[in-house]
Amino acid sequence: MTTAILSALPEEQSGLVATLQRPQRRVHAGRVFWTGSLHGKDVVLALSGIGKVAAATTATALIERFGATRIVFTGVAGGVGDGVRVGDVVVAQDYVQHDMDASPLFPRWELPGYARARLACDVALSALLLEAARACVVSAQGPFDPTVGRAARQVHHGLMASGDRFVSAAHESARLRTALREAGHNVLAVEMEGAAVAQVCLDYGVPFAAVRTISDRADDAAHGDFALFVQTVASRYADHMVQTFLQKL
Ligand code: ADE
Repeated sequence: MTTAILSALPEEQSGLVATLQRPQRRVHAGRVFWTGSLHGKDVVLALSGIGKVAAATTATALIERFGATRIVFTGVAGGVGDGVRVGDVVVAQDYVQHDMDASPLFPRWELPGYARARLACDVALSALLLEAARACVVSAQGPFDPTVGRAARQVHHGLMASGDRFVSAAHESARLRTALREAGHNVLAVEMEGAAVAQVCLDYGVPFAAVRTISDRADDAAHGDFALFVQTVASRYADHMVQTFLQKL
């Protein structure tokens, strides 16, 4: 078994690369892949790239070239669901592409050829990620928590939406969330890659799970929140959650 850890941001990956046993660096398709082992598990580490196409290419290379037999994604996301706040963690239950629209040929959000809008994540891997995220959230209420003093961080489990847009306006976030909700899709968070990786993994029959720390509320302040959050928290959070996850695997 080879577990691929796909990170959205270099800051999230650097801690994992630093602790990799027998590290080997390989370049393929213009991307850097690190192979080795972590906590006795064979792993391959890669950066997803930004957006659905980049992430799909990376996921395909992980499976075809590096023999990944499961893929776990870590990154940050914009919170759009009620009560999903900066510093919370969302483990994906399933994914929708919020910018998929082949209507009127297919119903809005349905993936042509897949007869559905939502792609489910692997139940067992997601359960492990949830455990790891909960353990991390408890131990993170400490010195590096930028939101000390606020209510406790929460771990959510539910629907995530991906699209090739950084959602950075409150009206856009509200419109997206309302339209999806009216069709029965109650989205917790938005990001730019996960649904593409879920689709590649479905095509190849490779189990997939994803965890995202909420860096912003996908509103007019999203850009500022995002930069600050990535610099201060994302790397430590992702590192901690992945290391805990691999120990449980
Ligand atoms: N990733 C983190 N925040 C995001 C946002 N607001 N929109 C899309 N992707 C994101």
